[in-house]
Amino acid sequence: MSLEERDDSHVLVAARDLSKVFPARHGLFGHHAADVRAVDRVSLDVYRGETLALVGESGSGKSTLGRMLLRLIEPSAGNVEFDGVDLMSVSGESLRKLRRRMQIIFQDPYSSLNPTMTVRAVVREPLTIHRLGSGAERNERTMELLRLVGLKQELAGRYPHELSGGERQRVGIARALALEPDFLVADEPVTALDVSVQAQILNLMLSLQEDLGLTYLFVAHDLRVVEHVADRVAVMHRGRIVELKSRVDLFKKPQHQHTRELLASIP
Ligand SMILES: Nc1ncnc2c1ncn2[C@@H]1O[C@H](COP(=O)(O)OP(=O)(O)OP(=O)(O)O)[C@@H](O)[C@H]1O
Ligand SMILES: [Mg+2]
Repeated sequence: MSLEERDDSHVLVAARDLSKVFPARHGLFGHHAADVRAVDRVSLDVYRGETLALVGESGSGKSTLGRMLLRLIEPSAGNVEFDGVDLMSVSGESLRKLRRRMQIIFQDPYSSLNPTMTVRAVVREPLTIHRLGSGAERNERTMELLRLVGLKQELAGRYPHELSGGERQRVGIARALALEPDFLVADEPVTALDVSVQAQILNLMLSLQEDLGLTYLFVAHDLRVVEHVADRVAVMHRGRIVELKSRVDLFKKPQHQHTRELLASIP
């Protein structure tokens, strides 16, 4: 690691010894299941402006870790610093302000978008919730957001089911950008899309990152998807990060057995 990388001012999100244990539910037939240690003492720095990919098989704890970084899931242990502020110790108005700076993009925009709301209403909602600007300003900002993600103005009055998968994901991204965040957790943002559309959304995310100076944690179970977008890659296996290095090094010199298996599964 270079000296420059070790400078704290380059770190936007710092996780230390994060763990999440989901308590066992009692089975239907009275048998006892074990607690699930979804994330197991993970420490991780996300640098400003980078795309850090988090890859691993299903159930390895990627979504749980990503959500803990945003405090959408409370950790069982450990802590997260966002831009130097201890995320676990803030509350009330300070937490609200901090939350504006971190957003999530979901895998399946179909189930994450309210089906009874128009595109315009979906994208405008965060502005309304945070009481930002006048009504006219919110409308203007909404249209600007649609432009930013490459959606035509005439789509503003449509409902989610009247859009293609790619258009729906653009709506999800526009909504996530409404509050001008610094940090986005993209949880499998292209997994549900056709391969041709995947590339369009990945390119959009890259150009938005460049224009807006965004920092991404990009969750995927497929290394192929992150090959073109990641600066660094963290490989997760059973709740732990087993390898974390630059994308180039990871593809060239995979060290952990599990990383090799993920590489081997790329067609
Ligand atoms: N709310 C919950 N209650 C109980 N167990 C949970 C909960 N959420 C996740 N888990 C368990 O925690 C483990 C990690 O789940 P997580 O969703 O973080 O994995 P993932 O790597 O995102 O998987 P996928 O690639 O399938 O999305 C799994 O064993 C899962 O069943
Ligand atoms: Mg997941």
